[in-house]
Amino acid sequence: MDVPDSIRERAGVLRETVRQHNYQYHVLDKPVIADAEYDILFRELQRLEENYPSLITSDSPTQRIGAAPLKEFAHVTHRVPMLSLGNVFDDAETEAFDRRVREGLGTERVEYAVEPKFDGLAVSLHYREGILVTGATRGDGYTGEDVTLNLRTIQSVPLKLWHGDSSHVECIPAFLEVRGEVLMLKTDFEQLNRYQRDRNEKEFVNPRNAAAGSLRQLDPRISATRKLGFFAYGIGAYEGSIMQTSHHDVMVFLASCGFQVAPEHRVVTGSDGLKNYYQEIAIRRDGLPYDIDGVVYKVNDLAQQQMLGYVSRAPRFAVAHKFPAQEMETRLLGIDIQVGRTGVLTPVARLHPLFVGGVTVTSATLHNEDEIRRKQVRVGDSVIVRRAGDVIPEIVAVVMEKRPADTHEFVMPAHCPACGASAQRLPDEAVLRCTAGLSCPAQRKQALLHFVSRRAMNMEGLGDKLAEQLVDSGVVSTPADLFLLDQETLSGLERMAEKSAGNLIRAITKSKKTTLARFIYSLGIRNVGETTARDLALFYGSLDRLMAADSDSLLQIPDVGPVVARSITSFFSNEYNQAVIARLRDAGVCWEETAGKVDAADVAGRVEIHAVGGKVFVLTGILPTLTRDEAREKIQALGGKVTNSVSSHTDFVVAGADPGSKYTKAVELGIRILDEADLLSLLQVSHSI
Ligand code: IVH
Repeated sequence: MDVPDSIRERAGVLRETVRQHNYQYHVLDKPVIADAEYDILFRELQRLEENYPSLITSDSPTQRIGAAPLKEFAHVTHRVPMLSLGNVFDDAETEAFDRRVREGLGTERVEYAVEPKFDGLAVSLHYREGILVTGATRGDGYTGEDVTLNLRTIQSVPLKLWHGDSSHVECIPAFLEVRGEVLMLKTDFEQLNRYQRDRNEKEFVNPRNAAAGSLRQLDPRISATRKLGFFAYGIGAYEGSIMQTSHHDVMVFLASCGFQVAPEHRVVTGSDGLKNYYQEIAIRRDGLPYDIDGVVYKVNDLAQQQMLGYVSRAPRFAVAHKFPAQEMETRLLGIDIQVGRTGVLTPVARLHPLFVGGVTVTSATLHNEDEIRRKQVRVGDSVIVRRAGDVIPEIVAVVMEKRPADTHEFVMPAHCPACGASAQRLPDEAVLRCTAGLSCPAQRKQALLHFVSRRAMNMEGLGDKLAEQLVDSGVVSTPADLFLLDQETLSGLERMAEKSAGNLIRAITKSKKTTLARFIYSLGIRNVGETTARDLALFYGSLDRLMAADSDSLLQIPDVGPVVARSITSFFSNEYNQAVIARLRDAGVCWEETAGKVDAADVAGRVEIHAVGGKVFVLTGILPTLTRDEAREKIQALGGKVTNSVSSHTDFVVAGADPGSKYTKAVELGIRILDEADLLSLLQVSHSI
């Protein structure tokens, strides 16, 4: 349909006006018109686009929400790896960082760009000709997940790069990757949790988890209801050139493109400047609108950054100064015993609730009996609890002066608290175990949680809570029972809407088709992790052959020693386990089997997976223990190739100290960079075939 010029023009004006008001509101936090006026403009644009769909552009402010749910996220390979930062924890380490930088550059004083370290999720946004085309999570730094649709719903993510003064448009490279952090403001987090509470839904632990949960929604309409923010802190890959010569200029440029940047960012000089900035932000931390877990120091001059380069996974030109783990005192109310998947009895401290590091803590692990004795922990004691980042809180020490008069030394129980079977401590082990195996309900529950987990059978929607509910209500007692669940039984469970019951059944059905490696892993055989499971699958190729394997046969497998072999043979000789496996197969759990003899083809298969044979390596810099020649020989001995220059055919660059331009080139091309330790472990796995 032909669109009259006047309408096309009006739509263009509306798009820019709405974008401008969005920016005023969501990025600058300074709206210049009333919400109602904004709504009128927005609706007019929507109406025009409805009447003339050809007017719709992907960067129109009306196009943030609306896509249908995805089945799964696609993967995105980062052109330039998203590295992590090294840490410093105190003034002395800060000074040492500054010294290394000065020595590296051969200068007296260095200018640093400093900014808060956001406690959110790193993402990468791709802009082609200034239009947002892709957005991805950091993932493992090399590949992340494509969460474009969700990122589009974040109002402070520009769909189109722009300059308040459009005369600067030529500054925008043809392709530009903007990096930054997705987070949830503290106030939005509190509001979200109030809402969750009102509806009797699970509350989020902290803003970071809430942001992560919202960003990784397969249904972008759900993401759109969560208030997320995006703060830009740098650029990654680009095509063409950029005009900025310092990090500070980059931040100013990003702000002029319509991004939010930390208002606290600044340029300081020397280690005194760094230390003062840290002190200042530590004081302001609680009053900031977002959670931060430290500050970041970056050499300001981009040319100097390049001169300093990278060490293995982190830049030499930047470092994070982390706030110390938060410690607080509380009372130890009791010690509970948890029974793990393999029967290990773990003492867990029940604490008088305390708010530390942004979350309420009610329990802390005590690891094992020896640990309790070492720390001299007794029920009734006042204890110091530490929580750092996302790790499980732990008891650091007992405040002896405050110990009440009537406390007793804690003794581990002689029997399993879940089933009453005797508990044993095996020689050479630090832990006590319940001896009942899978006839113990607690072990069965844990085994089930393991069975359904993401890396095992991957039953989406079947989380810990629900799995526990299924076991506790008696609906499920072995993994095989899961495949017999029907809509009716599930809908009868508390908090299970008909729709989620349907989704869950679909996820369970889907999980039936799996791989032999996953299946072996999901059985939860003691000492058999993912890697061993994969090796077993490759070696035997069939479950029957694995089940029939004796320990001599198992010992031929690299990394399988007598202990692992014994775990495997004893697992498969157990009649209960055999019956569960038979029922799982009857229920339709299946995978592809292979010939699986220990012949050349298998070996090749393993090499393929563990990646040395046939791969192209480039060596650069000084390795800590190997000479270049030694490294080359080792790689070649396993069928790998070593070449001298980095190109798109290179698979790995092994970098030591003071790497040369090959390193920079590898970073540019997004080639995987290994340090010596990475190389040695790669060689070891390949070698042991
Ligand atoms: S710069 C080459 N700046 O910290 C490293 N990172 O360890 C580039 N982070 O997960 C990172 N705030 O998401 C940089 N102002 C900031 C940051 C920041 C938070 C996170 C980042 C990454 C981790 C790096």
